[in-house]
Amino acid sequence: MSYITKQSAAKFAESQTVLAGGVASSLRAAMKPVPLFAESASGVRIRDVDGNEYIDYLLAYGPLLLGHANPAVTDAVHQAMQQGATYGLQHEGEIALARKLTEILPCAEKVALSGSGTEAVMLALRVARAHTGKRKIVRFHGHYHGWSDAIFTSFPSSDMRQAAAADQTADKILPGTGGQSELSLEDIILLPWNDAEVLEKVLREQAHEIAAVISEPVMCNSGCLKPKQGYLERIRELTKELGIVMILDEVITGFRVHLGGAHARFGIMPDLVTIGKALGCGIGVSALVGSKDLMAHIDNGTVSHLGTLNGNCVATAAALATLEELSKEGVHERLEQMGDMLVGGIRKLLAERGIAGIVNNVGPVFHMMFTQEPKVEDFASFNKRSAGDYVRFAELMLEEGVLIRPNGLWYVSTVHTEADIEATLAAVDRALARM
Ligand SMILES: Cc1ncc(COP(=O)(O)O)c(C=O)c1O
Repeated sequence: MSYITKQSAAKFAESQTVLAGGVASSLRAAMKPVPLFAESASGVRIRDVDGNEYIDYLLAYGPLLLGHANPAVTDAVHQAMQQGATYGLQHEGEIALARKLTEILPCAEKVALSGSGTEAVMLALRVARAHTGKRKIVRFHGHYHGWSDAIFTSFPSSDMRQAAAADQTADKILPGTGGQSELSLEDIILLPWNDAEVLEKVLREQAHEIAAVISEPVMCNSGCLKPKQGYLERIRELTKELGIVMILDEVITGFRVHLGGAHARFGIMPDLVTIGKALGCGIGVSALVGSKDLMAHIDNGTVSHLGTLNGNCVATAAALATLEELSKEGVHERLEQMGDMLVGGIRKLLAERGIAGIVNNVGPVFHMMFTQEPKVEDFASFNKRSAGDYVRFAELMLEEGVLIRPNGLWYVSTVHTEADIEATLAAVDRALARM
């Protein structure tokens, strides 16, 4: 088999002469053998400049829950463009999108629109601080909430550069990047996730200072770990009792693990929820949603919510079309089925080949890892995986015609078919044989 990435390599060399880092988002530099240059994509297929075609499970790091170039979203975006991309004035699309979100997401009474997950999280922290008059934020090891100074801590991912240097469980909180003020992390309390006892102790001791607890509902960014039975409920009870705001960061899980997000799937009612990624199907749009009480701080102007392109016509049109597609009968059942079929198939192949590995999933999002651990249910055991072996596997998968993220996280879309999954499993089998 001849797998050639010559054109991508040449373009990457050219890119490095003019684009800082050679990539537009640092993570992308980690792809081996070289960061690929895409030429076009539709549905689940993506082609690179060397003419290689892949079945895509990177899905642009999550936004493409409907696959590439979804016709309904594409049409909606075209139409919006023809009437003006953005006005800096109010328009009907903003109301329609906000209303739709309040219908779909159980915790949404009011909505604030922005452009990226990072911004939605920044706003959530601000609202929580304004609401409580307190400043500290509890967050958890292995979670990721965007790259703002306010919350970015060193992160153990094989596609993030700073990871290797850090002892991720040490008490000292390390900044996520060079150039980040260490002072910005003075307000952060970093705890192990899924440990209700530790959380309760810290919240009770420091409740007078803690404004919010922010958590991914499923630890998608480090192993796709599920919350232990009762854990999210315990966060809810404690935060309510102690006057602390509960923020669920659903930038990955939103619309993916359930139309109403993970908080609908698990039956939890947080105070604030952040959403992004899948909302725009590739167009930049995100939102903070929450209770009227909390969002009142934006209503009354205490909290500034700014952004030149917030609520622009292209973003609202893309999001409305996406939500309409995702609201169709049977979409989420099918997503679960396809996710389970792929995950079940990979587990079977690992077992048949006697390769020590684990696949953790919640519906159509899963993390595959090579590890000797019998199970991976917390951050410490997640960190024992062989990240290097997985990077090698991801490279072999490219040669086999499947695009996956080198850190182990896979996304399944609404347009992956049984035939795609079967072809993928055959590729996994060949790649495992070559490991
Ligand atoms: C849970 C979570 N929150 C926030 C973000 C930041 O979103 P964005 O990259 O759109 O700024 C991400 C991005 O991966 C994420 O996974």
